Amino acid sequence: MTTFLRKYSSRLLDGPTRSQSRAMLRPTGFSDEDFKKPIVGVASLASNVTPCNMHLDELSKLCVASLQANNCKPVLFHTITMSDGISMGNEGMKYSLISREVIADSIETVTDGLAYDGLVTIGSCDKNMPGCLIAQFRLQRPSIFIYGGTIMPGIYNNKPIDIVSVFESVGAFSNKKISEVDFLEIEKRAIPGPGACGGMYTANTMACAIEAMGLSPWGSSSRTAISKEKKIECDEIGSVLYNALEMGITPKSIINKKSFENAITTVIALGGSTNAVLHLLAMSHSAKISLNLDDFKRIGAKVPVLCNLRPSGEFPMSEFIKIGGLGPLLKRLALANLINTSCKTIYGTTLGDYLNKVQEYPENQRIVSDISNPIKKDSHIVILKGNLAPDGAVAKITGKEGLTFTGIAKVFNSEELALKAILNGSIKAGMVIVIRYEGPKGGPGMREMLAPTSAVMGAGLGKDVALITDGRFSGGTHGFVVGHISPEAFDGGPLALVKNGDTITIDSNSNELILKVSPAELKKRKKKLKHPLFKKIHGVMAKYRASVTSASLGAVTDLNC
Ligand code: FES
Repeated sequence: MTTFLRKYSSRLLDGPTRSQSRAMLRPTGFSDEDFKKPIVGVASLASNVTPCNMHLDELSKLCVASLQANNCKPVLFHTITMSDGISMGNEGMKYSLISREVIADSIETVTDGLAYDGLVTIGSCDKNMPGCLIAQFRLQRPSIFIYGGTIMPGIYNNKPIDIVSVFESVGAFSNKKISEVDFLEIEKRAIPGPGACGGMYTANTMACAIEAMGLSPWGSSSRTAISKEKKIECDEIGSVLYNALEMGITPKSIINKKSFENAITTVIALGGSTNAVLHLLAMSHSAKISLNLDDFKRIGAKVPVLCNLRPSGEFPMSEFIKIGGLGPLLKRLALANLINTSCKTIYGTTLGDYLNKVQEYPENQRIVSDISNPIKKDSHIVILKGNLAPDGAVAKITGKEGLTFTGIAKVFNSEELALKAILNGSIKAGMVIVIRYEGPKGGPGMREMLAPTSAVMGAGLGKDVALITDGRFSGGTHGFVVGHISPEAFDGGPLALVKNGDTITIDSNSNELILKVSPAELKKRKKKLKHPLFKKIHGVMAKYRASVTSASLGAVTDLNC
């Protein structure tokens, strides 16, 4: 085995002076022969913390066996994961976005610290997937991401249900729109097994974006967690990774700005999660590729929404998979010249090479529209600016709730206070719910507002109120919502100056978020601004608050990238 395949491990393990390192590894299963092979770290996000990741142990072991069979020496290690579905609407959710950084840091620490030559990461939940990719970009060695796959939907009253159905049932039950029996049955049936949340929420959105960038096996985004195809994918990973090692394929050698543009286009066509904005900005930062909110705006003006998928649409991810999943969508976008097919992939071939082999969707499917007849002719992810968001904000506007909204501000300094008001009926049609001090620093951790937005939906106010925040939204959120408002209130952004009764306009035609208060009055308010008392924080939260950047830059903590 030539040492170029062992670019990193040879420094740690070769020669008489490295005897102690080899001695430490022998009891873990290294033979004399193994010291001549490239070491590939297998970073598994397996855990029983959440159903999203509870099946990854089996997949990780298949990857290990496949690498072993393909002349690599795999080393399996684990890192932490969080669950948004469990912690949402609670203080614990503040750790969610923080976990993305902890995951990236921990994978980087093990892989670089122990000199692995290549890396396979396996994740299946919102934050752990971009966490894996951020680490892969930082490490710049042959690496591939495997998606654990989507969950199957639960069924109740002959309809597919999922975690978002549960969130919405809370609002519906509080407003006496469903019975206690329905409420409990939805809770019991919504999550029938392993896999990531089952609509085009953040995990499935990111899986598709990562595949479109050529950083995961073809088809990885479009296999369910319980499918035999998912296992076959893992069985085949050894040869893909060994080929990448032989050809010296690093993320840097295949990824460029156009790869990120392809990812953005994919997210829009899918009607995907607004979290993709935050995660793609953070991933590009680690890849040292310049990407900003204006890129989302530019691409958003020409790319239509094509997919009728939950939460804004009708179908779960598992139905999208049945008609062919992501591949035919990428082909459709390529035929319309909306994605760049010359982008390289982890296989060493191009996206176009793959799409040549992909079959179109079946004729009678109802999930993906033709380019000529889209669900929305431009992006549902709208980048807004204005006196309330000088550095930008991210709105999810599907058009179903209208394209503009003007209403009266009702201000809350935390998610909990807002949720309480929605559930006790204090929120009325025509209001703009303002939730602030929930940004990356303010929270800290930029919580997702799925509980309040679901409560709004459950209360039947989806078309009558808007919600704006310096926090963010789950991929499961729908309704008239604006998040990522920057600068955040904690940093003294204009959001901190809003008072109950102010008029706010959200206009997706002009891409503006406007607080209708005069500059003189805002100046006066700024002088008198007093932040609420913040709870004392410590540990990882304190470290995060001290280092995290604005949401408009991806809320990253690796400042020297
Ligand atoms: Fe893990 Fe939704 S909570 S994918």
